[in-house]
Amino acid sequence: KTLIIINGPNLNLLGKREPNIYGSLSFTEFLQEIKQKYSEIKIEYFQSNIEGELIDKLQSVGFSYDGIILNAAAYTHTSVGIGDAVKAIKTPVVEVHISNTFSREEFRHHSYISPNAKGVILGFGLQSYELAIESFMK
Ligand code: DQA
Repeated sequence: KTLIIINGPNLNLLGKREPNIYGSLSFTEFLQEIKQKYSEIKIEYFQSNIEGELIDKLQSVGFSYDGIILNAAAYTHTSVGIGDAVKAIKTPVVEVHISNTFSREEFRHHSYISPNAKGVILGFGLQSYELAIESFMK
């Protein structure tokens, strides 16, 4: 199985950014851990702060990979383009968020991804990504 984790804007700062909300582990450290834990699966990783690059990546993996784990970060709440890309591709997308966006500001309550996601996992810290990987394991 080949999965890809796609992270959107500011998630390159994980570990440094608002650690009270997002934790103090960097994504690189976390990725090493999960690659070991789920060694039977190929897990790729892509991060961009640029909306169009996220769309390009979704298009390029979205007809061949087995699963996409997408944390579009702030673009979740703003991007019709990323929402349309998720709708356009064949590979199932599981939407994840580190924080529980529903316990935060109102503008984080709407997602352009959710209507076309296979499912949504949020609020479990970095464990949200692990739960998403496990959803693809059956
Ligand atoms: C986030 C939640 C978003 O509202 C926010 O803009 C992020 C991260 C999360 O993983 O909790 O950058 O997607």
